[in-house]
Amino acid sequence: MNCIICPVCGEALDKENRSLKCINGHCFDRAKEGYVNLIAGAHKKGSLIGDNRAMALSRRSFLEKGYFDALVEELISLIRERALPCPLILDICCGEGYYSHRIKEAVDCELYGFDISKEMVRLAAKRKNDCEYLVANLSRIPVRDKSVDIAFHLFAPFHEKEFSRIMKDGGTLITVVAGENHLFELKEILYDTPYKNDEKPPETEKLVIKEKRKITRRVHLSSREDINALFEMTPYYYRTSDRDKEKLSAYEELDVTVDFCIFIY
Ligand SMILES: C[S@@+](CC[C@H](N)C(=O)[O-])C[C@H]1O[C@@H](n2cnc3c(N)ncnc32)[C@H](O)[C@@H]1O
Ligand SMILES: [Zn+2]
Repeated sequence: MNCIICPVCGEALDKENRSLKCINGHCFDRAKEGYVNLIAGAHKKGSLIGDNRAMALSRRSFLEKGYFDALVEELISLIRERALPCPLILDICCGEGYYSHRIKEAVDCELYGFDISKEMVRLAAKRKNDCEYLVANLSRIPVRDKSVDIAFHLFAPFHEKEFSRIMKDGGTLITVVAGENHLFELKEILYDTPYKNDEKPPETEKLVIKEKRKITRRVHLSSREDINALFEMTPYYYRTSDRDKEKLSAYEELDVTVDFCIFIY
C-alpha cells in the first residue's frame, strides 16, 4: 500500500481501519464495495466524472463474453516474459476492471487500478479480487515516483509526464490503441465512407517504444445485445446520428474484426 500517495499533499497513504490516511491527516474512506475515492474532497471538478453507469455496464457485459480474450492473453504473456517476482502492476484508466481481474488471476503480483469514473471503479471493486481500486485522475496519478514495474493503459488518454514519473527505471508501460481494422465491419454498416484507424502511437519524448505487437482476430457477435454493447463502448457511439444508429438494428449477428496495436515503452 505504501506506493499510494495522498492526492492533497503527496505523502504516503496508509491503511487505517476502513480508510487511507496520510501523516498530515488527510483521510479517504473506503466505500462499501471496497474502493477508495481519492478525488472526493481533493481536486474535484464537476466536469471530471468520466464514463457513466450505462457505459460501465455495457463494457462489463461485452468483455465478460470473452470477445477480447486474445488481447488479455497477450497482456498476460507480456507480463510473464518479464519474469519479475510479484511485480507492482498498475491498470491506468482501469474501467470496470476486466483486464486487471484476469491478470490478477493469472500472475502473482500486487495490482492497483484507477479510473476517474466512480461507476467504473465501483463495478471493478465488486469483483472482490484482491486488487486495490481507486477513483483518481490520470493527470495526478496517486502513486509514488518510480514505483511501478509494469503499467498497462488500454484505450484511454495518454499522459507522458505522469507515466514517466511513476515508472521504475527499466519498467514497462504497455499502451493499447485500436488497430487500423478494428471494428471495420461495424463502421461499414454505420457510415457511407468508413475510415481505418491510423495506428499512431501516442507521441512521447520521455518514454521510448521498444516494441510494437499486433493482435488481429475475427469474432462472431451472436446477438443484438452484444452488437449494441460493443457499439456503446466505442467513441463512435457518441458521434453517430440517430439515423445512422438505426442501421445497426437490422443485425442479429455480426462478424467483426478486432484489431489491437500494442506499444511497449
Ligand atoms: C474506453 S474506456 C477504457 C477502460 C478500460 N481500460 C478498458 O479497456 O476496459 C476509457 C476509460 O478512461 C477513463 N478516463 C478518461 N479520462 C480519465 C482521466 N482523466 N483520469 C482517469 N481515467 C480517465 C474513463 O472513465 C474510462 O473508464
Ligand atoms: Zn495528505
